[in-house]
Amino acid sequence: MANAPIPVIAGNWKMNCMHGDGHALANDLAERMLNRYGPPVDVAVCPPLTLLGSVAAFLSATPIKVGAQDCSPLTMGAHTGDVSAEQIANLGAACTIVGHSERRRDHGETDEVVRAKGEAVQRTRMSAIMCIGETDAERNAGKTIEVVTRQLLNSMPETSHAGNLIIAYEPVWAIGTGRTPTLKEIGDVHQHIRDQLFEVLDYDGYSVRILYGGSVTADNCHDILRVPHVNGALVGGASLKIDSFWKIIEAVPKPDEVSAPVRAPA
Ligand code: 13P
Repeated sequence: MANAPIPVIAGNWKMNCMHGDGHALANDLAERMLNRYGPPVDVAVCPPLTLLGSVAAFLSATPIKVGAQDCSPLTMGAHTGDVSAEQIANLGAACTIVGHSERRRDHGETDEVVRAKGEAVQRTRMSAIMCIGETDAERNAGKTIEVVTRQLLNSMPETSHAGNLIIAYEPVWAIGTGRTPTLKEIGDVHQHIRDQLFEVLDYDGYSVRILYGGSVTADNCHDILRVPHVNGALVGGASLKIDSFWKIIEAVPKPDEVSAPVRAPA
């Protein structure tokens, strides 16, 4: 049995926070991280673009990574309002979320667009946090695995490896609703994603972190983070309050608490 990858706890601030509260949140998190003694964990925050540069500069002296919530697939040029992965990396960001369901919904982003954005992110040596997940209607129609598989395989850039790809399984119906799948349902989908990653990336697929996202809270995180092949969480609402976000970071299991069954590629 191999060691499980180091978990990631990432906060997606979405379109929240002004200068003052965003910097206060980053400051509180930095103070706690610098005094933390606990199992290994990679912590990241993804503030809105308005705060990305200043938060990244402030957190550069800490172990906390900073990421963007989206980027253009293009490099530069006449594209009013767009921001390239290169510009984001240039601010000190280490990762960028691509394919979040709110962007798929609000901006009609297809798997092809998400894939191009992921390629742009990986081109800069940042990690792409690639979101996939089914809607309520797809779940009710028994299509969860089909949808997740299609999104995964069609959105994943060919340049992906364990060092530049993080998958976030976020059932759309669980985002911001207080509803979550059962632990078994989460485990089944994560196992399936792991199997797919094995098929595409061979043994490297074992080390790609697969995060769960969707109504993760201080109360449910302990159990969710112990589901096999859940290698962390992408947290929305609960990442906006230091106490709840910190409880989620503190709930990360010790490496020997996680069973990480390896299933060899066929
Ligand atoms: P909530 O944690 O608010 O449900 O949001 C999850 C999410 O969309 C993270 O990207």
